[in-house]
Amino acid sequence: MCGIIGYIGGGDAAEIILGGLKRLEYRGYDSAGAAFLADGKLQVMKKQGRVEKLSPLLKGVDARVGIGHTRWATHGVPSDINAHPHRAGGFAVVHNGIIENYAELKAELILGGAKFLSDTDSEVVAHLLQKNYNGDLVFALRETVKVLKGSYALMAICEGENRIAVARHKSPLIIGYGADGNFCASDEPALAGLCNTITILEDGDIAEITSGGVKIFDKFFKPVSRLKEPNLAVSASLGLDGCPHYMLKELRETPLSVEATARAFGGVKDSLRKELDGIERIILTGCGTAYHAALIGKRYIECFARIPAECETAGEFRYKNPVINNKTAVIAVSQSGETADTVEAARLALSLGAKVIAVTNSHRSELTRLATVVVPVAAGPEICVAATKSYTGQIAALYLTAAVLAGESVYSECAEKIEKIPALLTRTLEDLDMRSLAHICASSSGVYFLGRDLDYAVALEGSLKLKEISYVPGEGYPSGELKHGTLALIDVNTTSVVIITDEGLAGKSENAVEQVLSRGGKVAVITNIAEVEERFSGKLPVTYLPKCDKLLSPLLSAVAVQMLAYKAAAVLGREIDKPRNLAKSVTVE
Ligand code: M6R
Repeated sequence: MCGIIGYIGGGDAAEIILGGLKRLEYRGYDSAGAAFLADGKLQVMKKQGRVEKLSPLLKGVDARVGIGHTRWATHGVPSDINAHPHRAGGFAVVHNGIIENYAELKAELILGGAKFLSDTDSEVVAHLLQKNYNGDLVFALRETVKVLKGSYALMAICEGENRIAVARHKSPLIIGYGADGNFCASDEPALAGLCNTITILEDGDIAEITSGGVKIFDKFFKPVSRLKEPNLAVSASLGLDGCPHYMLKELRETPLSVEATARAFGGVKDSLRKELDGIERIILTGCGTAYHAALIGKRYIECFARIPAECETAGEFRYKNPVINNKTAVIAVSQSGETADTVEAARLALSLGAKVIAVTNSHRSELTRLATVVVPVAAGPEICVAATKSYTGQIAALYLTAAVLAGESVYSECAEKIEKIPALLTRTLEDLDMRSLAHICASSSGVYFLGRDLDYAVALEGSLKLKEISYVPGEGYPSGELKHGTLALIDVNTTSVVIITDEGLAGKSENAVEQVLSRGGKVAVITNIAEVEERFSGKLPVTYLPKCDKLLSPLLSAVAVQMLAYKAAAVLGREIDKPRNLAKSVTVE
């Protein structure tokens, strides 16, 4: 999944494309590239690595038309050759998505004499455009997409034509209308500050963009008009507030995220109650951190509302022929609202008659457009690839969603309880000292996060966070499962972080501590139970958190494991905000 932007007008295309690519880096930073038409001739520049590496290559480009790309590699290693745009003769194309039948198309094109340079799936599109061209780029694109399988947002330019042709299927694509030209992009942030009005294209749409206007065709190639909407993306670049990384800044914004999410929930609670009336079963879905929040949401729903709830990663849910009917609600959790698997899971649920509740931090995204009801997470922009404040915001939103399902009195009680959390989070952030444990984890061969019930859900998230930004291997495990396999991995070089916040289960998790210690492994404990602290203090590193309502304790322990991951990554000198191989928004399968 990648970020793409195009421009045609009276302005400096190189400067506009470069600015847009910088704003799009959160969608991938393996390489960046751009293609321009200057005096009718195609110029293509591309470079492995961040957008800043592309910048010097664009100096001196004098063009009014251009398309650009930031890449998150799916097919072919990150390299100059595999960077987009891809070119065939006088045609250049940028692509976000995956062409699933590229291998057979490539074989056919090679038989026809095409010479491929890259290992990407996307290069076939450039060759198909060349093959299908009869003097009309939009027609060539239309013929090309007829044979593509998979997902795509495509932008193409060619020598001899002063326009950009675009097409979308399953990958988002928007058009922007500016004062001095028109734009196309994979999402709104790319166009922040460039135009006030946008159109979100629909699946199957093809469009022609010139400096004077935009023509849109539907999947039957019939001219259509699509809604014009205000561009809500803000151009102000977000500062670090004195923090060395966005991750730390965003972690420190956790109290605000929970507070604002709880406040925003008031605006949606009545429609949520109405839409969920009569629902007999709930399936929660999401990917990565959002899935971990969903696991906690499932517990809340079953605990408060006693409605059977299941949880499935979106990439699995989509392909399992789920049993769904109009008495089912699917809660799709996603920070970005653009994650391909989550969006497609929501689409599938709707097609089977379910209600879809989107719990998202992105209030205008593919997921929000699809959803029956949107439960806002009000975490604010999250720049770091690793999710922090959005995860805690999601937990808060799911807590209140579950409470609403249980009726007004449970809801009022829960709303009061969550009001106390931001102050406790502030205290937690002030008191947390994860430095020495971070050093231990950074030098461990593996770090295992253990817990039971809600602590287990947080253990999964702690493990993901540590792996994602420090690259230290490990797993999250239910404490009770340790002895069924993972114990074999424990030795003096491993560290186990045991989360214990449930008094009823504390004894059981303490057993896990002893089992690891007796196999020579290092252990640390994160707890808010005084007796647990007393028992291990002085013998092991113990992080003691403020006491809070049992069901809300994940909000505090989440901050502890996130901070631990952050500090460990800092010890190892990792590039914390942009970890290797990852991207913030995962818009491909
Ligand atoms: O935007 P989403 O919440 O749908 O993203 C889902 C995952 O890609 C995301 O949570 C990922 O796991 C994070 N990088 C974890 O920190």
